Amino acid sequence: MSPATAMLQVLTVLTVLVLGVHADTSWISTPFNPPSIPLAVRSPYLSAWMNQGPNGTALNDDWPKFWTGNIVGWAGYIKVDNITYLFLGAPNLPDTQKAVQKSMEFTSTRSTFILTAGPVELTAEFLSPIEPHDFVMQSFPFSYLTLTTSSNDGKPHFVQLYTDMTAEWTTSNTNQLVNWTTSVNNGITHQVQVQQQTQFTEVDSRIQQGSAYYATTQVTGLTWQSGSDVTVRGEFISYGVLQNTQDTKFRAVGDSWPVFAFAHDLGNVAQSSPVTVAIGHVRDPAIQYSVADPTLKIQSSYFWSKFALISNAISFFLNDYPSAISRARQLDSKIQNDASAISTDYAAIAALSARQVLMSTEITLPKQSDGKWNISEPRMWLRAGDVDTVDNIYPAWPFFLYMNATYGKALLLPLLEYGMSGQYPSQWAVHDLGGPYPQVNGHNDGKDTEMPVEETANMLIMALSYTQRTNDTSLITTYFGLLDQWAQYLVSNTLTPTNQFSTDNFAGSLANQTNLAVKGVLAIKAMSSIATLAGQSEKAASYESTASSYISEWQQLAVSTDQKHLTLNYGNDSSWVLAYNLYADKLLGTNLIPKEVYNMQTAWYGSVSNSFGVPLDTRNTYVLSGKRWQIWSAATVTDPIVRDLFITNLKKYITDGQSSAPLSDWYDTVQGKPNGFPARAVVGGHFALLTLSNSTPASGNGVPNSGTLTPQGTNGTSSSAVATASKVTVALGFSMVLQATVLLI
Ligand SMILES: *[C@@H]1O[C@H](CO)[C@@H](O)[C@H](O)[C@H]1NC(C)=O
Ligand SMILES: *[C@@H]1O[C@H](CO)[C@@H](O)[C@H](O)[C@H]1NC(C)=O
Ligand SMILES: *[C@@H]1O[C@H](CO)[C@@H](O)[C@H](O)[C@H]1NC(C)=O
Ligand SMILES: *[C@@H]1O[C@H](CO)[C@@H](O)[C@H](O)[C@H]1NC(C)=O
Ligand SMILES: *[C@@H]1O[C@H](CO)[C@@H](O)[C@H](O)[C@H]1NC(C)=O
Ligand SMILES: *[C@@H]1O[C@H](CO)[C@@H](O)[C@H](O)[C@H]1NC(C)=O
Ligand SMILES: *[C@@H]1O[C@H](CO)[C@@H](O)[C@H](O)[C@H]1NC(C)=O
Ligand SMILES: *[C@@H]1O[C@H](CO)[C@@H](O)[C@H](O)[C@H]1NC(C)=O
Ligand SMILES: *[C@@H]1O[C@H](CO)[C@@H](O)[C@H](O)[C@H]1NC(C)=O
Repeated sequence: MSPATAMLQVLTVLTVLVLGVHADTSWISTPFNPPSIPLAVRSPYLSAWMNQGPNGTALNDDWPKFWTGNIVGWAGYIKVDNITYLFLGAPNLPDTQKAVQKSMEFTSTRSTFILTAGPVELTAEFLSPIEPHDFVMQSFPFSYLTLTTSSNDGKPHFVQLYTDMTAEWTTSNTNQLVNWTTSVNNGITHQVQVQQQTQFTEVDSRIQQGSAYYATTQVTGLTWQSGSDVTVRGEFISYGVLQNTQDTKFRAVGDSWPVFAFAHDLGNVAQSSPVTVAIGHVRDPAIQYSVADPTLKIQSSYFWSKFALISNAISFFLNDYPSAISRARQLDSKIQNDASAISTDYAAIAALSARQVLMSTEITLPKQSDGKWNISEPRMWLRAGDVDTVDNIYPAWPFFLYMNATYGKALLLPLLEYGMSGQYPSQWAVHDLGGPYPQVNGHNDGKDTEMPVEETANMLIMALSYTQRTNDTSLITTYFGLLDQWAQYLVSNTLTPTNQFSTDNFAGSLANQTNLAVKGVLAIKAMSSIATLAGQSEKAASYESTASSYISEWQQLAVSTDQKHLTLNYGNDSSWVLAYNLYADKLLGTNLIPKEVYNMQTAWYGSVSNSFGVPLDTRNTYVLSGKRWQIWSAATVTDPIVRDLFITNLKKYITDGQSSAPLSDWYDTVQGKPNGFPARAVVGGHFALLTLSNSTPASGNGVPNSGTLTPQGTNGTSSSAVATASKVTVALGFSMVLQATVLLI
């Protein structure tokens, strides 16, 4: 056995032992039990999760929660031979018992629970579609819940199913007045909304506009009812059917809790056919877009271009379920297969992240002056409190490139339009488009959070990577002047950046940040490729030569005196940094960063990793933060063992049972505890490796493909620093074993 193999085996054993310390559920969790399980997660206002905690939380142990932690009431009972079992939510009513959860499994689009209710097994599948091929379906903020039963003892049983939602799907304030209605046609749709509607206004992250819907198809055995929780649930518990009546006494959300219910009497069955209900939250208009055009424009969710009435859209969605589930299974398998080529843990992290990314987005379009929809250029928006925070889009960017780069274009357009409009006074790229979401009011006073090098470089890198993936040069030709202005700014300001924030602004501002400077240099190189694609060969040559000379200067300034690592800031030998910005060199295929820098950093990360990952830099001695950059960094290392160490440690954090909130991207790498920031879209960065392995940057665009898309553990090339670097790489394996050993003690 070679030392390397032996080391790998030791490492594997250690990893298994270390992973024994995780959330301990009494049911089988596949691929693992995460901090929170997505149930209906499709838009900033349709976001229902089952939070877990140290020992897991079964589907009927607690209420589903909005991402902020407020309850979104969703209850479910199954009656088997007149015995009522609770399977969803946490109502506390007599004459019921709890079904027993046997398993939970999540994929990229689905979370599936199997529970035992006496002699019957119930499967509850929560599907939140991800639609990479279709703006219409992606923009329709609805999710499915599908219930199927099968007999455990081979005999038929009388089975009745019940679910309801509360008005908490419209607001977090239970004193708020709501009203509602139930419409009965081919389908039955409950609709509920806050009475005091205020357009484009959030309170506690909930939009004070539009309605929540709960809908199902008309079938034999279906009954429905609205009314107080105790009355309606009690009706089902006593009789197994509902009264087909509406409560018309409108009141506050928490005043005798109005619920909106369906019951399905399946009869005496061994295997039931599936029952599907749809849940959603829709408003119109969706976005107030008051910049980029002096006249105020409003935008509506994209699906309205296909459906005149919400009832049409809902019945289409319900009828589309068979196709939707088949598309979902295909996408789940694609992500699973692509990501498994890296590792099983990696595939699980990607699957957990996908719905969370899209939860923060919406796709819209405007109306033309003739009242028709203008479908020519859809816009995608990202809610990060404010609208379109560039350094939230950028970390998530690998997800959009992987999903379908066209979605990325829709995301970049508003930022480019605003830059081009001349309303933003600074030469660099804006930090965000104003807010609070969904009010796109820009920063015409120039008083946004200043991250000049950060956001400017982000924009250039995203614009080129979009173009490479699609061969669509429309962005870079239309906005060439703006991109050129931004690149000029970087030429003057990136090599020795002034004291400023980077995206990790919680760590404080600093001058001469190594990791920030290199992003700017890579962006200048990107501008050279952009100029080539736009037919501006002189500019291309000039940016190219600037980038080449800057990268040599940067290397001189950025590497520690002992040549062992990049520093946090120039000349600060005792400092070091997680240089995740090197990733852009891989993404764009720019090949600007010398191989010895990658080898050096690879060795260094292995030697400084904590139990739950590599900290961001040396500024946070006690609270060490890992953040979303682990996988970006994993994508830059030259040794698959180090790459997998990043992945394994990230998974360890995700599964350690110390969180009860949708995945946070900011955590302590020593303790494995999250540090706020739940449910953010930046976990799209977990697709960084997938995006590279899936990458076929267009040829003939002046940007050579980097070739080594999946890090292959190359030992380096023949420059003078390399001998040192590869020695360090070899030593690294043992230092990792040491690290892993320390974990166990
Ligand atoms: C989790 O389970 C462990 C072991 O059964 C127990 O000691 C601990 O109190 C539980 N934690 C919670 C929060 O229920
Ligand atoms: C269930 O209860 C109803 C009403 O009390 C009764 O008519 C029926 O026979 C019972 N069914 C079974 C399977 O016990
Ligand atoms: C990408 O999305 C656009 C818009 O929905 C669609 O027209 C196109 O077919 C999609 N491309 C792929 C490869 O799915
Ligand atoms: C419910 O409230 C909304 C918003 O105030 C109002 O437009 C609607 O007419 C009301 N509906 C009913 C059924 O009272
Ligand atoms: C549709 O939108 C595009 C892009 O914003 C714009 O150029 C065009 O003028 C619009 N068309 C109409 C008819 O308003
Ligand atoms: C872009 O163009 C290149 C060269 O013509 C081609 O090989 C590649 O498949 C194209 N990519 C896309 C996404 O169309
Ligand atoms: C940044 O680095 C350059 C080059 O080493 C140096 O001249 C300059 O003084 C540094 N700036 C600050 C604020 O430390
Ligand atoms: C060097 O880096 C450390 C963090 O490791 C930081 O606290 C310190 O301020 C830096 N020193 C200078 C002179 O920038
Ligand atoms: C690195 O080089 C050593 C010695 O030449 C070789 O045994 C090893 O397989 C190489 N590692 C990788 C990952 O290529």
